[in-house]
Amino acid sequence: MMIKEKTPAKEKQEEKKRLRERLLRIKHTIMVMSGKGGVGKSTIAANLAAGMARQGYVVGILDGDIHGPNIPKILGVEGRTLKGDKEGSMLPIEVYKNLSMVSVGNLLEDQDQPVIWRGPMKHSIMRHFLANVVWGDLDFLIVDLPPGTGDEPLSIAQLISEARSDVKPHAVVVTTPQDVALLDSRKSVEFAKTLNLRLMGIIENMSSFSCPHCGHAIDLFKVGGGERAAVDLQIPFLGAIPIDPAVVRDTDSGRPFMLHNMNCVAGMAFTRIVEKILKMF
Ligand SMILES: Nc1ncnc2c1ncn2[C@@H]1O[C@H](COP(=O)(O)OP(=O)(O)OP(=O)(O)O)[C@@H](O)[C@H]1O
Ligand SMILES: [Mg+2]
Repeated sequence: MMIKEKTPAKEKQEEKKRLRERLLRIKHTIMVMSGKGGVGKSTIAANLAAGMARQGYVVGILDGDIHGPNIPKILGVEGRTLKGDKEGSMLPIEVYKNLSMVSVGNLLEDQDQPVIWRGPMKHSIMRHFLANVVWGDLDFLIVDLPPGTGDEPLSIAQLISEARSDVKPHAVVVTTPQDVALLDSRKSVEFAKTLNLRLMGIIENMSSFSCPHCGHAIDLFKVGGGERAAVDLQIPFLGAIPIDPAVVRDTDSGRPFMLHNMNCVAGMAFTRIVEKILKMF
């Protein structure tokens, strides 16, 4: 029997169809962005997803940070490799019931090897993660992004809007309270508007620190800047999360902080933010 090879144009057309079919099964996409690095996007993306999954929503996380994929570590699935199904699609890694994820980190054999890719390759992997991963029916797809206004958020926004003109991806901007971070987060807000994303609001992370000995609040990076920026930019303020060493401990040991620390100040702050976001849908 002769096997007819598909032309690149035909393959592209089929992928486009698959992309639309997959995206039709994803109710909402939320992109977690920031202008500055290290403000807690990945931590917030993972906790937001875990918090939603705990409430019974079916959630996927797409780790959109190609150069520094942190989601596998935060969710404790480092070292697990992404597998394919019989049709040649990729199966997301199931973290818990209702929570699945995909990351470049689960494709790499050596975690210490840097990924050196140009823009078009980044676009291809984002398309692949949306079109060829068997996400199934999701209530939310949370996308963790690298800092700044680069290729990755642009690709995700473009791919979603090309495939579905009826929905807009949502965006959450994370910032820390000091002026330099806020300056960058304003850029993120403008970027989200340019990409025609539905801006859900700003989260201020690392807001203040409570002394473990006397409980006194120390404003390491000032406090309240995120809320002021939200007021200035006329977008919602979603809440402030204090610095808590337990966040670092849990993140490093691969368990979402908010699932195990619901009664401390930071845990309650995460819970309130998840509730506020859910109420917006
Ligand atoms: N509220 C918090 N309290 C204490 N530590 C925190 C808090 N939020 C995040 N961290 C810690 O700060 C570090 C950076 O967080 P994270 O990796 O989530 O930031 P990021 O914005 O995703 O960084 P990048 O821009 O590199 O992707 C991590 O070690 C994380 O555990
Ligand atoms: Mg990150």
